[in-house]
Amino acid sequence: MIGGNGWLGSALASAVLDAGFVKPQDLSLSYRSQRPHRFDEAFWTSDNQALADRSDVVVLCVRPADWRDLNVDMKGKLLVSVMAGIPLDPLSDRHRTDCVVRSLPHAAVEIRQSYTPWIATPGVSEEARIFVRALFEACGVQDEVHSETDMDYFTGLSGSGPAFPALLADAMMRDALSRGIPVAIARRAVNTLIIGAGRLMEMHETCPSEIVQTFLDYRGTTAVAIEAMRAAGFETAIACGLTAAFEKSMSLGDVPKQL
Ligand SMILES: NC(=O)c1ccc[n+]([C@@H]2O[C@H](COP(=O)([O-])OP(=O)(O)OC[C@H]3O[C@@H](n4cnc5c(N)ncnc54)[C@H](OP(=O)(O)O)[C@@H]3O)[C@@H](O)[C@H]2O)c1
Repeated sequence: MIGGNGWLGSALASAVLDAGFVKPQDLSLSYRSQRPHRFDEAFWTSDNQALADRSDVVVLCVRPADWRDLNVDMKGKLLVSVMAGIPLDPLSDRHRTDCVVRSLPHAAVEIRQSYTPWIATPGVSEEARIFVRALFEACGVQDEVHSETDMDYFTGLSGSGPAFPALLADAMMRDALSRGIPVAIARRAVNTLIIGAGRLMEMHETCPSEIVQTFLDYRGTTAVAIEAMRAAGFETAIACGLTAAFEKSMSLGDVPKQL
């Protein structure tokens, strides 16, 4: 794992170790400045080429801006990138391998609840695809998708996704505070609500639109709230946010052909 000391890199490392998917002695991680004091049984290095040379699979966990200075030969290796916005072709060109997976886990890898869409170059064998599915299943739920445009869209929808329920919760808390509810009570009410709503959705596996419709059909206070939120542009705001993330992801993909 190149960048294995970062937020996502270390969450991925914990997930695959906890799942027993990789033994600590088979895991190599790289850092940039100081050797981290975690995953002590794994191999740590600041030499990314040395890491690639001793690995069959290289997971690239640096930020897109840092990747621009990273020139590591991965010929014959499976490269799995978790970087937002960087398409398959520049990854393949830069690292000299035909076996490339572009993926996008999200912050809930930390609790093994990530949703991870991924796409692979034709050079990735079925055996390697089975490996990739198992890797991301150790982190939550995964789907292989078939277009890089979908990957750019998922950058906003799920990659950035953990921020959005937090945004909703923050807006609800602000409203509660403006009405004089004490902060500790408002926080408890809102946090419990978001967690409980997620668990109910998990338990019933219903489509969100069915949940909304059930509340609308009930014709109570919730229906009035939903209608007022929609009239104020709730869905337009969501669509604008997801479009902005999609466009940002596409812009990250403007990579010079050769370094
Ligand atoms: N965090 C998320 O929720 C999330 C979600 C989806 C996708 N991603 C993608 O995951 C990638 C990592 O994100 P992050 O949030 O984990 O960022 P991060 O916390 O900044 O981690 C990046 C790590 O890479 C290290 N690094 C940079 N250049 C390096 C090099 N040349 N050699 C070795 N290590 C190097 C950094 O070291 P220093 O400590 O020295 O800077 C840092 O530890 C990004 O490309 C992002 O698009 C993240």
